[in-house]
Amino acid sequence: MPTPNDGAACARVIVFANQKGGVAKSTTAEAFAASLTARGHAVLMVDLDSQPGNLSMHVGADKSLPGTLELLELRRPKREKVLRCIQPTRSFGDVACANEGLDDVDKLLNSRMGRELMLSRALEPILGDYDFVVVDTPPALQVRTLNGIAASDDVVVPCMADASSVAGMKAVFEYVAEVGEFVRGAQPRVAGVVVTRYDARNSLEPEMFDQIAEVAADYDAPLLGRGVRNTVNARKAQYNGVALGEFAPQSTAALDYEEAVSAYLDGIEALPGLGRTAGSYYS
Ligand SMILES: Nc1ncnc2c1ncn2[C@@H]1O[C@H](COP(=O)(O)OP(=O)(O)OP(=O)(O)O)[C@@H](O)[C@H]1O
Ligand SMILES: [Mg+2]
Repeated sequence: MPTPNDGAACARVIVFANQKGGVAKSTTAEAFAASLTARGHAVLMVDLDSQPGNLSMHVGADKSLPGTLELLELRRPKREKVLRCIQPTRSFGDVACANEGLDDVDKLLNSRMGRELMLSRALEPILGDYDFVVVDTPPALQVRTLNGIAASDDVVVPCMADASSVAGMKAVFEYVAEVGEFVRGAQPRVAGVVVTRYDARNSLEPEMFDQIAEVAADYDAPLLGRGVRNTVNARKAQYNGVALGEFAPQSTAALDYEEAVSAYLDGIEALPGLGRTAGSYYS
């Protein structure tokens, strides 16, 4: 668990979002969390998706403990209260898990002033404890996803090489622009797109890959890596609650995710104004 905030550093919050379901948002969030942890960074995962088989389940979280439900419910998020919503995992850093009843929080959020800023506010007291906060979102642009995007510095869009995933990616790009325009203080940027579950042997996918690159370029979003190849190891790792990089470190997808994480970190290094602190993002 984290040490008290010395105010010296501030986590970068990365949110993983695509309006389309099943495009490997959670797999990509887990792979980033595991890789950043393995590189020596302090990582917190926040699971905003209550579906069965979600990130919390894959990382072996105890869902009977307080998690994102309690986190989002906090009216005055004091550090000690926020820390009670977080538990450690074996290889993914810490997690605020998506526990039972998370769906009920939507009604509560919708009745609150500043409803899209509840996550941002709740994370504030512990941002100094982590290098990265990895946020996984549900497959819809709803109030919890908006909370994730509004709390983020970086939006990473996992996208499969098919038309509906590309439409879901575009919707996120538009949404990010809107958040920046309408939500005071929120300045997320699209950090990049990870092409997921990629199968170059499927004749349509290389063509769709190029289309993803074109659409992303229209929004100034880089592709992070050359795509994550489709492999049964990704499913097996999730089934066993183990990070892909640990379960099958030499599998194609594990290596592809390492490439994507390195590209993401290079992108941060290149950001203007981060020269002084960028070194802290590398182990
Ligand atoms: N590289 C890969 N190769 C093969 N299968 C993969 C790969 N990446 C992810 N999968 C599988 O695809 C399925 C969907 O992945 P995941 O749950 O990460 O998607 P998601 O976008 O989070 O879904 P949802 O929208 O339901 O939250 C899972 O069964 C996962 O194991
Ligand atoms: Mg998911």
